[in-house]
Amino acid sequence: MNIAIVGATGNVGRKTLEVIEKKNFKFDNLYLVASPKSAGKKISFKNKDYLVENLETYDFSKANITFFAAGGKISEKYAEKAAEHTTVIDNSSFFRMDPDVPLIVPQVNGSEVKKMKKNIIANPNCSTAQLVLVLKPLHDLFKIKRVVVSTYQSVSGGGKGPMDELIDQTKEYLDGKKIVPKNFTKQIAFNIIPHIDIFADDGYTKEELKMTNETKKILDEKIELTATCVRIPVLVSHSEAVNIEFEKPYTLEMIRDTLNNAEGCEVLDKTEDGGYSTPLEATGKDETYISRIRKDKTKENALNIWIVSDNLLRGAALNSVEIAETIINSK
Ligand SMILES: NC(=O)c1ccc[n+]([C@@H]2O[C@H](COP(=O)([O-])OP(=O)(O)OC[C@H]3O[C@@H](n4cnc5c(N)ncnc54)[C@H](OP(=O)(O)O)[C@@H]3O)[C@@H](O)[C@H]2O)c1
Repeated sequence: MNIAIVGATGNVGRKTLEVIEKKNFKFDNLYLVASPKSAGKKISFKNKDYLVENLETYDFSKANITFFAAGGKISEKYAEKAAEHTTVIDNSSFFRMDPDVPLIVPQVNGSEVKKMKKNIIANPNCSTAQLVLVLKPLHDLFKIKRVVVSTYQSVSGGGKGPMDELIDQTKEYLDGKKIVPKNFTKQIAFNIIPHIDIFADDGYTKEELKMTNETKKILDEKIELTATCVRIPVLVSHSEAVNIEFEKPYTLEMIRDTLNNAEGCEVLDKTEDGGYSTPLEATGKDETYISRIRKDKTKENALNIWIVSDNLLRGAALNSVEIAETIINSK
């Protein structure tokens, strides 16, 4: 088993290495690939130095499984050619809605890896991955009709550039210096921005539409979902305020029991000061946390919850390595 990571120097690529190490994922050879500017750099992994290879000259036949974490344009240009020689697990949005490419959260629809036709599997958007992980066990029991979600997304969702910019802007603000945004449309330090990805004609952003379309593809076409996606000045972990309307009645005890027993989920919900999850505590953890579980008193069979998860793990690296494990197990 040889594996490769395209985008190995980025946020998701580096996290993928961490997950591979933590899970003790078995491999014979590892190939790390990035842009020409990183070619020749050394990355230390499990007491061994690896030289970063240039994507432009990299030979895809060297690995059985290749993780792509270098953005949609790179996946568009290279993934299908790569898939002639290696199974591609793609973190970008480029193939997610392709009917011939399964979109997988292993705990939710892992068996669909078998439907792979192009030798490519897509990893969902970070906000969608943590949401469907929680929705799936509830949908199985109470049948979800509609979801209204507002996200509070960390800057790492945009890559390492935006993370550096939040730190730089924070220092500039405290030093009383002029702030000129680079990766964001407005100042992000001490502010929030209700805009992630580009605008569509209907006024929604692409990030919001991804949440609707990907949830339908992964979980159930019949689920109606409307989203508002907001970038906040937090480094890692995305939070979501979620309103769910079910077809069937539920009790809060049933919701807590179901989520506590769901793989990858953990209920952290005490109605007292600090008895809930926050992004800082979720960072570096594999679990997706559910807090603030309350009845929506304005509508029958409706529920309010708060979900927090590490976007670089469940939303990217952890999910993609679990996809690789699922593919290997299915063979
Ligand atoms: N961050 C998240 O929460 C998250 C969640 C789900 C999915 N994703 C997706 O994962 C992908 C990577 O995101 P990220 O956050 O890791 O971004 P990032 O931190 O900006 O890293 C980008 C990576 O892509 C490489 N790259 C850029 N241009 C390249 C080129 N021309 N040729 C080869 N490699 C190139 C970079 O290499 P250099 O260092 O050499 O430039 C770097 O390794 C994106 O598609 C993103 O949408 C991210």
